[in-house]
Amino acid sequence: MKTFEEMWEDLKPYLSCEKGLDEGYYDGKYTRYFARYCKHIVGVDVSQEFYEIAKENLKDLDNVELKVMDALKVDYPDKYFDVILCTSFHEFDLSGKEEFKMDLDLKRRILNEMSRLSDTIVFAEIDPDNLSAELYKVFNPIEEHGIRTQKSNELIDQVLKENGYKLILCDRAVDKISYNSREEFKEDMLAWWAEVHVPETEEEKQEMLKKIEDILESRKFLTNLCFDDVFRYTVYKRG
Ligand SMILES: C[S@@+](CC[C@H](N)C(=O)[O-])C[C@H]1O[C@@H](n2cnc3c(N)ncnc32)[C@H](O)[C@@H]1O
Repeated sequence: MKTFEEMWEDLKPYLSCEKGLDEGYYDGKYTRYFARYCKHIVGVDVSQEFYEIAKENLKDLDNVELKVMDALKVDYPDKYFDVILCTSFHEFDLSGKEEFKMDLDLKRRILNEMSRLSDTIVFAEIDPDNLSAELYKVFNPIEEHGIRTQKSNELIDQVLKENGYKLILCDRAVDKISYNSREEFKEDMLAWWAEVHVPETEEEKQEMLKKIEDILESRKFLTNLCFDDVFRYTVYKRG
């Protein structure tokens, strides 16, 4: 499997361009990688809160323009962007909070809007068997995160092919996220899905931490103080 840096090297030829769109920038982690290659990036995200966080995180970059904007209606002309980068598209409907359902129609409409905006679209999605699928269940036991990712990937492939794109690159890579201590590692895991559930009592927090510990140890991640975040990345091109 490729390393995280090798993944960006593979994507470099597609991300190196004049005008790029980052769909759903969240805290800006992946926007920063994109900004190594693209001369001017427009980032869109529906969340005002994430806008404030990403603005602070990316304040040293002068080639990123962040906007609070719905990916369903991106206010730019047809084919305006040389490339679109979209990471964690499976999360674009946060329907897993109370009941497990996927809004595939919403995803289809967002993919159609992306197809209007660029002939090159790059996706980086967590792999369906990424351990985060198990961890997510600590926060919402009825959420089938692995299935969500799988269905989302299938939909991406289907809709983009319907829109005339060809899949020209598909590979896997691992982002090795390191921690200094077991405590820091587990606390960070609690924070990853804080928007889904925050423990209400100290007792509940300890129960959640114990479940997180068991899941992480099933792959020796806690012993190694390293989370292997496995990605599947794809490039679709038209014309
Ligand atoms: C799981 S996060 C992925 C963020 C980031 N790309 C990453 O990989 O870390 C999904 C992001 O999409 C944003 N989002 C969800 N629905 C959206 C929509 N309709 N338009 C724009 N952004 C949206 C969320 O606010 C969130 O920041």
